[in-house]
Amino acid sequence: MIDLRSDTVTNPTTEMRRVIAEADVGDDVYHDDPTVNELERTVAELLGKEDAVFVPTGTMSNQIALRVHTEPGDTVIVHAAAHIRRHELGGAAHNSGVTLAPLDGRYGGFTAEQLTAAVPEPHPALPSHLFDPVTLVCLENTHNDAGGTVWDIDEMRRVLKTASGLGLKKHLDGARLWNAAAATGIDLAVLAAGFDTVNVCFSKGLGAPVGSALAGSAKHVARARRFKQIFGGGFRQAGMLAAGALFGLEHHRERLAEDHANARSFAEAVNAADKIEVDLGSVQTNLVYFETPDASALVDACLTDGVSMLALGPTTVRAVFHLDVSAEDGARAADIVRHRSASL
Ligand SMILES: Cc1ncc(COP(=O)(O)O)c(C=O)c1O
Repeated sequence: MIDLRSDTVTNPTTEMRRVIAEADVGDDVYHDDPTVNELERTVAELLGKEDAVFVPTGTMSNQIALRVHTEPGDTVIVHAAAHIRRHELGGAAHNSGVTLAPLDGRYGGFTAEQLTAAVPEPHPALPSHLFDPVTLVCLENTHNDAGGTVWDIDEMRRVLKTASGLGLKKHLDGARLWNAAAATGIDLAVLAAGFDTVNVCFSKGLGAPVGSALAGSAKHVARARRFKQIFGGGFRQAGMLAAGALFGLEHHRERLAEDHANARSFAEAVNAADKIEVDLGSVQTNLVYFETPDASALVDACLTDGVSMLALGPTTVRAVFHLDVSAEDGARAADIVRHRSASL
């Protein structure tokens, strides 16, 4: 089976399993798990932040960030297709009591002008408590639903500067920030600069079985540790999981460029088929979204030939490239997709 459903489906390698089995552990709730502490220091350093907290999932990391920066009733600006808005099951309202105000924009981005327009301007005739209290803006890099796209660094800096001018806090959902760094050659700390908090995931392109981290200032991370506990994220001998994350950071970051190359080759190959259309401009990292007249029929047909993908809409299919998919697998998958789409 060539499993292209997600980059979360990877199996830990033999070497990763070995370091997991041999990890030094303690009770992380008491902060005495040496491997978790090492991971948190490593992530903070890589992202140029004061501290980081290890949590079970990217969803929890984002949800903690929302809770850290807001109070109930606040408004949070996100892209319309943000993971926080589309795939966290109303968690923003459930856990933090906030409203999400969506902005649209190509490839998961939006402009500083859009941000300014989305924040109500105080009106001399009306008291400020009559306007939505916008307190936080969230960006996603790379942007999953937009195609694994990378924020333009100059546009991102303009948005961050404008957000600061408006008095907003800034959170980055960098579940795949490793991919953004690999695609652009820009240092992780540069991509994370200007954000108050940054979520990163180890269980996607890095191939670790579990885990994410939220990085930021010492003050924000101290507050995040409180909500990690409240949300039930206090895990005990988590060093076994942190060991997998550290191994992924050390050994699987460089190779992300291979996933990007495999995604691009696959995208170009299937785009040549009559009934498939890929926006090649959106294929910037390891995700490929394509349009086809009947997504479910194509996905079902390919599955019988040993290629697993996701139908994410009536006409939209997603294929994701990762550690467990070789260049040969990618080429074989493209052949199967082309062949099957022609006979539908
Ligand atoms: C952009 C983005 N943010 C957050 C998450 C959530 O991560 P997790 O599945 O670990 O909760 C995902 C998961 O795919 C994601 O793509």
